[in-house]
Amino acid sequence: MKQKISVVTGASQGIGFEICRQLAQKGITVVLTARNLKKGETAVQKLQKEGLHVSFYPLDVTKQDDIQSLVTHVKEKFGRVDILVNNAGVHLNPTESALTVALDIVKRSMEADVYGHLLLCQKIIPLMRQHHYGRIVNMSSKAGQLATMGAKKLGYKMSKAALNVLTAVLADEVKGNNILINSMTPGWVRTEMGGSEAPRSIEEGADTAIWLATLPDDGPTGGFFYEHQPIPW
Ligand SMILES: NC(=O)c1ccc[n+]([C@@H]2O[C@H](COP(=O)([O-])OP(=O)(O)OC[C@H]3O[C@@H](n4cnc5c(N)ncnc54)[C@H](OP(=O)(O)O)[C@@H]3O)[C@@H](O)[C@H]2O)c1
Repeated sequence: MKQKISVVTGASQGIGFEICRQLAQKGITVVLTARNLKKGETAVQKLQKEGLHVSFYPLDVTKQDDIQSLVTHVKEKFGRVDILVNNAGVHLNPTESALTVALDIVKRSMEADVYGHLLLCQKIIPLMRQHHYGRIVNMSSKAGQLATMGAKKLGYKMSKAALNVLTAVLADEVKGNNILINSMTPGWVRTEMGGSEAPRSIEEGADTAIWLATLPDDGPTGGFFYEHQPIPW
């Protein structure tokens, strides 16, 4: 088996950064992407100092030119992408009621949490098909779970529920190509987004992503997972 190549979005910090670390610790080549150049380069240097094989590429998932540029870069440098972790996300105006929330908040949530990831999938899945191998992890949230949906956080909830739709539809469309696409929730994690009161560590938050990113060929696809277990949509 050739050296595996992975791309992780929104990896300047938090769960995305930890996913890069753990993938690289497994001997997988990691392209750590981030929208902030300085933060991204600093993050990569930190992992390189740990002896890990990680490189940086700038990517704001809301910018189509950035997405095209990343895809061209990985094609030229590696010729393949085996693992894509769609981790980037924003959590805007979480306490505001759906009755008053500005449409712009919902649009910006969809742009950062869904549309960029859709475009990345559209551009990277053909590469995965060529090599008959792919693992895609969509970093969703319990907030996107229709089964337990409650008040507020409208933009975030809509975007994570839509990300789950993307998982289910794409997984079905690529069936039979050894491309496994799943959504997951990391639980409530102590990051900038989750805050210091969250009960779970960043390592715990990243754990299910690593499992889904390295599934065997007979692993699940088109599911929603928490702690390696399927959960209702
Ligand atoms: N923490 C939790 O409790 C929790 C729970 C459920 C789901 N999640 C999900 O887990 C993922 C990671 O969150 P986290 O907890 O690690 O939060 P975090 O520390 O705030 O990290 C979010 C990351 O997303 C990046 N990002 C935001 N917009 C972006 C864009 N347009 N393009 C590229 N990168 C962008 C941020 O970049 P900057 O550094 O430039 O801001 C940052 O690296 C998110 O999708 C989040 O929704 C988290």
